[in-house]
Amino acid sequence: MDDDQLLYEGKAKSVFRTNVAGELRVVFRDDITAFNGGKKDILAGKGAYNARVSAFFFEYLEKNGIPTHFIRMEDERTMIVRELTMIPLEVIARNVAAGSIVKKFPFTEGQRIDPPVIVTDYKDDEHGDPSINDDLIIALGFLSPDDLREVRETTLKINTLLKDFFTKAGIELVDFKIEFGRSGDTICLGDEISMDSMRLWDLATGESLDKDVYRFGKGDVLSAYGRVVDKILQEN
Ligand code: ATP
Ligand code: TYD
Repeated sequence: MDDDQLLYEGKAKSVFRTNVAGELRVVFRDDITAFNGGKKDILAGKGAYNARVSAFFFEYLEKNGIPTHFIRMEDERTMIVRELTMIPLEVIARNVAAGSIVKKFPFTEGQRIDPPVIVTDYKDDEHGDPSINDDLIIALGFLSPDDLREVRETTLKINTLLKDFFTKAGIELVDFKIEFGRSGDTICLGDEISMDSMRLWDLATGESLDKDVYRFGKGDVLSAYGRVVDKILQEN
């Protein structure tokens, strides 16, 4: 098989085939984008920070019974993963109101959402990733009713595991986005769990420690990402 064949180049990661059937190489690049690619930059070191945090959480979740695509790190920015047939959904869990939910609904920024809510977007850049509901997910054949229940339960379990971990590390888990895919009959967590895909607030100061620092020019992005890495390592 052709090693290093580029399968997909996304906004922040590149996915390659490897010479092992069923294994992919995911390279976390230093590109950072926001507002659907409207703002773009390269931040040297950002890819390695996100790869490290993602690997850490995939291992943490696996240890706690969540099937993930993670196999191993190859180098500081490269992850070897199980190839999944991706389900074209962005599954977003929210513990605190921030971002698009505040723009769309009468929540105030920082308002607790307890019990947490899960919302889903259809992953399709051409259509601007529109929000999608359970009936549409089933009608479009993305998930059966049973699989939808499983994705929802797994997302809530992941939320509890991540939230508890972050609280101990002095960070509030505001929200996050995950993606799932199929490996045979198993629905696995894929993609990434990083500062690009979560909102994280410092519990002591309220400062953002995630991509909002970049989105809204709130300070030095790399030092915010680095603080998350340090806090996670200290906690572990
Ligand atoms: P977005 O930033 O909106 O999530 P993107 O496509 O630009 O979209 P990237 O993270 O740059 O995102 O690209 C990674 C791609 O690889 C995504 O399309 C993701 O769904 C896909 N992917 C992640 N994990 C796997 C896997 N285990 N098997 C197959 N594809 C995967
Ligand atoms: P959301 O508030 O819906 O969007 P925005 O960040 O544009 O205000 O985002 C909720 C969380 O999900 C946030 O932590 C960022 C993450 N997310 C992604 O990683 N990718 C996406 O395409 C979207 C829509 C959200």
